[in-house]
Amino acid sequence: MSDKQNNYLVIEDLSKRFGDFVALKDVNLNIVEGEFVCFLGPSGCGKTTLLRAIAGLDLQSSGRIFQAGKDVSVLPPAERDFGIVFQSYALFPNLTVEKNVAYGLENRKTPKDQIKERVAELLELVGLSDKTQSYPSNLSGGQQQRVALARALATSPSLLLLDEPLSALDAKVRAFLRHEIKQLQRKLGVTTVMVTHDQEEALTMADRIVVIKDGYVEQIGTPNEIYQQPQTKFVADFIGTMNFFKAQVIENDGVKIDELIFKLETDSEYFKGDQVIAAIRPEEFIITDASNKSAFETRIEEIEFLGNFVRVLLSCDQMPGQTFVISVEERIFRLHALEEGQVIHVNALVSPRLYPL
Ligand SMILES: Nc1ncnc2c1ncn2[C@@H]1O[C@H](COP(=O)(O)OP(=O)(O)O)[C@@H](O)[C@H]1O
Ligand SMILES: [Mg+2]
Repeated sequence: MSDKQNNYLVIEDLSKRFGDFVALKDVNLNIVEGEFVCFLGPSGCGKTTLLRAIAGLDLQSSGRIFQAGKDVSVLPPAERDFGIVFQSYALFPNLTVEKNVAYGLENRKTPKDQIKERVAELLELVGLSDKTQSYPSNLSGGQQQRVALARALATSPSLLLLDEPLSALDAKVRAFLRHEIKQLQRKLGVTTVMVTHDQEEALTMADRIVVIKDGYVEQIGTPNEIYQQPQTKFVADFIGTMNFFKAQVIENDGVKIDELIFKLETDSEYFKGDQVIAAIRPEEFIITDASNKSAFETRIEEIEFLGNFVRVLLSCDQMPGQTFVISVEERIFRLHALEEGQVIHVNALVSPRLYPL
């Protein structure tokens, strides 16, 4: 019970079936008051289904949901405390911005002067004070989503639910609104759950990320934990860029990728002879000189310029057929005057993460 008191939103053994299809399987999740949590996963993994269960828009098949210590599992949406923003703006096209934002308050029979004050405050908050009399069709996509956000916040809900609110916007607006939404959330301290399939969005905005695959929670953690210590190969692959190698565990806390040996941390859960997948991120390799004992010789196959960084595809005679990518700072790239065909020595700075084959 103490857990339910410390956590604002508690999801217990939640499952959802559509006929025979299992969309969510035994989801357990605790969200602390004021936290910004992202549900992250590929399209169709169950993110929206989970969000809709939290809102009561589509009831779970089994399991329970507690909000602010109260069992809300079977309450209709109108009796739950949340504001929601969807991907498609879903504003009322025939109502002005002001009327759109006022909608929930009018439903609650809030006095007119209070509504006016609150709407003005919200539009100020989202930077649209000059658009009160505009209609949605006269606003840009980004502006419409800001109106949707103001509308969701109008009744001062304790929980804000966002379903891919930025994915219909172009890149520049998206990056800007990411920052704005995050700041607004911090300022208001409202517990927020945002669905996204965009790992960069989740990594930049979330306090914690819930990675979902095929209706299962794969990992829950801070952006840093998810990036540095992906618990499954799926998470390692889905978040950021990762090199995967076929490898075999050998004695002396090492792993062998073809003829190359990499050191392992001593607490590896694998045994000598185990076939595994070894994973190393591009930025975990450095270019070094041949005298370095743990360096190995590679050949540059391809160079991809990314501005600040350069992605360099390498092959290595000691692991034929397994190319891999390293990321090199532009300044280092120039220093070594790297070019295709060149032979360089590289070294892995960390032990590879291991996953079952
Ligand atoms: N009303 C429904 N009836 C049948 N299947 C559904 C329904 N809603 C969602 N699904 C299925 O459940 C899975 C998860 O959907 P959804 O939660 O919308 O995924 P996401 O938001 O992660 O893209 C998908 O395979 C989808 O086709
Ligand atoms: Mg969805």
